[in-house]
Amino acid sequence: MLSGDVIEPVRLFPLRYPWAYAHLQQAKRNSWFPEEAPLHDDVRDWQERLGPEEKHAVEMLLGFFNPMESLVTTNIVMAVYPRLTAPEVRLYLARQAWEEANHVMAFEYVIKTLPVDRERVFNLHRDHPAIAAKEAFQRRLTEALLQAGDPADSVGERQRFLFNLVGYFVVLEGIFFYSGFALALAFRRRNLLRGLCSLVDWVLRDESLHLSFGIHLVLELLGEHPEVMTAGFSRRVKSLILEAVELEENYNRAVLPRPVLGLSAGELNGYVRYIADRRLEELGLGAHFKAENPLKWLAAEVDLPELVNFFEARNINYEVGIPRT
Ligand SMILES: [Fe+2]
Ligand SMILES: [Fe+2]
Repeated sequence: MLSGDVIEPVRLFPLRYPWAYAHLQQAKRNSWFPEEAPLHDDVRDWQERLGPEEKHAVEMLLGFFNPMESLVTTNIVMAVYPRLTAPEVRLYLARQAWEEANHVMAFEYVIKTLPVDRERVFNLHRDHPAIAAKEAFQRRLTEALLQAGDPADSVGERQRFLFNLVGYFVVLEGIFFYSGFALALAFRRRNLLRGLCSLVDWVLRDESLHLSFGIHLVLELLGEHPEVMTAGFSRRVKSLILEAVELEENYNRAVLPRPVLGLSAGELNGYVRYIADRRLEELGLGAHFKAENPLKWLAAEVDLPELVNFFEARNINYEVGIPRT
């Protein structure tokens, strides 16, 4: 998958990676557009029902999601796509890039519709240290790959490439975004911001597939290049995930200096540790925190059957019929 002509036109069949094609087929079924979620009631909620701490939490959420969706698009197009040559993998990545652009448009739509200070929210990724730190974490991984050589050339280059895949598909899409979804859905639990929460449902369904694709991709590459997973590399991957958990915990403390809608930073961070353990297990690295999920209500909050995948990650292959590698 890592070697071959990078500008060879697509010749899809026979498939070499049927799991990638299955993800592509599922992604097509998940199509949606931001304006399908009306935000009139959300504007009224903002004006009449939300207090300053709740507004602060939503602004921090938008201030993180919006720029990160852009970063993930850039990473796919500039760093990941050029390094993978399997046609079915490339088709999925092209589809994912479109979905990430759609997510950018969804959050832009929310920011321009709600009566928030648009400039301030947009600049949070630079101005707020907890968001800036998460962005710096992601940018570091993209920049490392933009300066890197071809992963087909050496073990070190392959490790660098896999490090980027873990940092984006597993950390950003599978940990950072999840705690944001949990916070957003706490509003719907109180019958608030239902338009935004519909968008979050759809983004969440897409991200569940991105995460599943990313885990399959990492495991497939490790299967093709077993020399990559040295003891030192697996320690570095684990510490990357633990570094991300710390960044997310700091961010959540800044989002929720006091509990909002019955949700505290401590509970949200318990959920972060719980999902970090799931990600470590999915990568074969073993749970670290061994934490219980303190937000049991999340599973009941999601309506669409596909969303079970988010909270019961092990069900995903069964749900979408994708064979585990
Ligand atoms: Fe996204
Ligand atoms: Fe994504």
